[in-house]
Amino acid sequence: MPAEDTLFLLQYAKKYRGIWALEIGTGSGTIAQALIANFRNVVATDIDLGSLEYCRRKGGMMLVCCDAASALYGKFDLVVTNPPYLPGNPEDDAAVHGGPTGMETTMHFIESALPVLSDKGRILVVVSSLADMDTLDKFFQKKNLKKRVVGKKMLFYERLYAIELTF
Ligand SMILES: C[S@@+](CC[C@H](N)C(=O)[O-])C[C@H]1O[C@@H](n2cnc3c(N)ncnc32)[C@H](O)[C@@H]1O
Repeated sequence: MPAEDTLFLLQYAKKYRGIWALEIGTGSGTIAQALIANFRNVVATDIDLGSLEYCRRKGGMMLVCCDAASALYGKFDLVVTNPPYLPGNPEDDAAVHGGPTGMETTMHFIESALPVLSDKGRILVVVSSLADMDTLDKFFQKKNLKKRVVGKKMLFYERLYAIELTF
């Protein structure tokens, strides 16, 4: 059963259409697989080979084992990501820990996505209320990214936001 944050992102990711889509940190591939219906090409990256092996059995996606989007060229219409966002050392568990404040991996994924985002492309990212939104907002401004909150969900101990970023 996919996690709550996966299902949350999935409902918004399904609304986008285009030619090229990328998911950074695909994990079980649930989101990347759903994108196949609306995109001609779907690329999914992860640093965990075991996850990519699992995704390979599902088929239909191009799988790349690399850090964020670091191995990719070309331009994507959509980049989707549900980054690990709990404070902690990614070396202990890269699936849940997003750095000392919990936001470092989120900013790293977005920064890595920018060179492969088309001019009219969109980044769709999950952000938790556990994150320091002011720091993230400053980061978006520094990167000249416009932010739009496209969805919200209250969970027991946090709120999740689906945030769309564009140039
Ligand atoms: C919170 S999980 C999200 C998994 C999946 N996208 C979902 O929503 O169910 C974060 C994923 O990012 C991957 N990841 C962590 N650091 C990464 C990095 N530097 N580059 C690529 N993937 C990374 C983890 O292995 C994990 O699969």
